[in-house]
Amino acid sequence: MAPRVILIGPMGSGKTTIGSLLAEKLGLAFRDTDHLIEEREEKPVSQIFLDQGEDAFRAIEKRVLRDELLKDGTVLSLGGGAPISIDAQSALRAISSYIIFLDISLSTVVPRIGFNRDRPLLLNNPRGQWQTLMEARRPIYEALADVTINVDDKSEEEIVTIALSSLEEAR
Ligand code: S3P
Repeated sequence: MAPRVILIGPMGSGKTTIGSLLAEKLGLAFRDTDHLIEEREEKPVSQIFLDQGEDAFRAIEKRVLRDELLKDGTVLSLGGGAPISIDAQSALRAISSYIIFLDISLSTVVPRIGFNRDRPLLLNNPRGQWQTLMEARRPIYEALADVTINVDDKSEEEIVTIALSSLEEAR
């Protein structure tokens, strides 16, 4: 029992967009940890950070992730920080889901994240903060992934096609 596919990667890599397209192609339900957290708390992620702080957000994220990993046959997109804790890493290693890391370069991501007020971790110096987080997290994303797809210069359609064929090969 586990999601069919899990998307991981940094903020701005397109996990939500690609995840929902992939789910549509596979005829599976799409789930997204940030959306589920927002539904549960009835406020945007940025507001949770403001009202309750990052530690509280991570605790909610951990519960949501645990619940989602028990659901069968979904496509699940994780917030950039969701797979990073040791507990999350072991939980993700213990299940049979196909894990896709959407990799993206700083120059491609900058126009996507620069003006986005919904990303509390990137409020000051989005470029520098994104880069610092990505440097620290990249080894974890790479170690967890069954496949890494670099999304630079690729259309959504191309990324989905690559994801589907790698999933097919892995069967
Ligand atoms: C975060 C990524 C965000 C969201 C929160 C924290 C992170 O999700 O969960 O702002 O720690 O990288 P996206 O990766 O979907 O933007």
